[in-house]
Amino acid sequence: MDQRTPSPPLYETLAAGVTTLIDNGLLRPGMRARSVRAFAAQHGVSLTTAVQAYRLLEDRGVLEARPKSGFYVTQRSHRQRELPTASQPPQRASTVAVSNPVFSVLSYAGDPSYAPLGCAIPSAGLLAAERLDRHLARCARVHGRHYNIYADPHGDAELRGQISARALRLGHAVPPEGVLITNGCTEALNIALSVTTRPGDTVAIESPTYFGLLQVLEARGLRALELPTDPTSGVDVKALDKALGKRRVAACLLASSFNNPLGSRIDDARKVAIIRVLTRYRVPLIEDDIYGDISFGDDRPRPFAAISPTADIILCSSFSKTIAPGYRIGWLAANRRHDEILAAKFALSLSGAALPQKAMADFLKSGGYDAHLRRIRKVFADNIDRMRRVVDRSFPRDTRMTDPKGGFVLWLELPDGFDSDTLYQRAIRERICFVPGGLFTAGRGYRNCLRLSCSHDWDARVERSVARLGELAHELLA
Ligand SMILES: Cc1ncc(COP(=O)(O)O)c(C=O)c1O
Repeated sequence: MDQRTPSPPLYETLAAGVTTLIDNGLLRPGMRARSVRAFAAQHGVSLTTAVQAYRLLEDRGVLEARPKSGFYVTQRSHRQRELPTASQPPQRASTVAVSNPVFSVLSYAGDPSYAPLGCAIPSAGLLAAERLDRHLARCARVHGRHYNIYADPHGDAELRGQISARALRLGHAVPPEGVLITNGCTEALNIALSVTTRPGDTVAIESPTYFGLLQVLEARGLRALELPTDPTSGVDVKALDKALGKRRVAACLLASSFNNPLGSRIDDARKVAIIRVLTRYRVPLIEDDIYGDISFGDDRPRPFAAISPTADIILCSSFSKTIAPGYRIGWLAANRRHDEILAAKFALSLSGAALPQKAMADFLKSGGYDAHLRRIRKVFADNIDRMRRVVDRSFPRDTRMTDPKGGFVLWLELPDGFDSDTLYQRAIRERICFVPGGLFTAGRGYRNCLRLSCSHDWDARVERSVARLGELAHELLA
């Protein structure tokens, strides 16, 4: 990454030392690591620093804590790659112009004759497409004419009830009347930005960030203020505070969990700290929770709106990553600005298509969503693990990669000077698609990075294609 922090924090260096002991076989899988206290004494550091190092190793799956027993080396068989460096984007707002390159990549990403490492869209076979289609067919048979109308602009009442009930399970108390159904998360984000910003305003975002979000900013004439972001723990709160102190920012737009492309997860304490800063500067938060349900652990992370129910937050999400991107069903939940939000929905699309909403409500009511989520989470976690192994054995030695605990994308960082655009041109010639890093910023960074999608069924073609990308990367660096 050509935007990097000068030197890693002490706990990172200590954690890297433990990883080296494991790589060199001095600490083997299953062995007990030193106690945190002994580790702190050995390195002459505070207990807090030692705990931070062990937490990091736990997050990376290198150590596991066993109750009342201590920390043990996990049974992973592959070498632990370094994580990408925390980003350090320029501290100024930029105009956004990503649409042309994005359209070009998307034209290949959607073409099945290219190996599917580009689009972050699960294959229909993995999602509940067939079951949902049966609900749609039934709804069309039973209610067809009744639903061939301009629907309530708020969306199907039953669907809103289902979404509200699921939110409550996470501690987010939003009544059905507080939920607005949208055409995917993209429309929710557009509505949220339309009620919080005016053209020319600045919006604070993670860096790197999802290119579709940059396209939305571009289309709305908004400027992007990119924030330093850690690949594991998300946005840097101090940097956010400093940035907001320097200039007027109209809104802050963050992923609630497992952001695209880093897969970082902001823990509850950091979420509280972020909200505190935003509240102090009176900056509304737009949170994109589209990947929240794809958590590999048992603890589905809570959105900001659940953690700080009275703060100025607009939650945006959809079923595009878990059930059906083609149905275009998303939603927005806010605790203020209801009239403006409804007016914006009217202006954008009048109302959503009624029948797919009814089918989705029926599907959720039928009760299989949680079992379905458990199944796809396992598939995505396995895909990520397999992809990491292939990257590990095929890519140049200095390649860093993320180790996400949710979602289905991997972010790779190659040495400075590596050009992922050139890799992309060569890969496209060989019918392999991925997304070069430059698309994830409004600035000029991340040219040495790339995103691989692990959202499709794992097969020999996917495995071969990742290995081939590794070979091409070796050739480019030679
Ligand atoms: C972070 C993020 N937000 C929003 C979207 C778009 O969601 P939808 O298809 O529901 O509009 C995507 C799609 O890739 C995404 O990755």
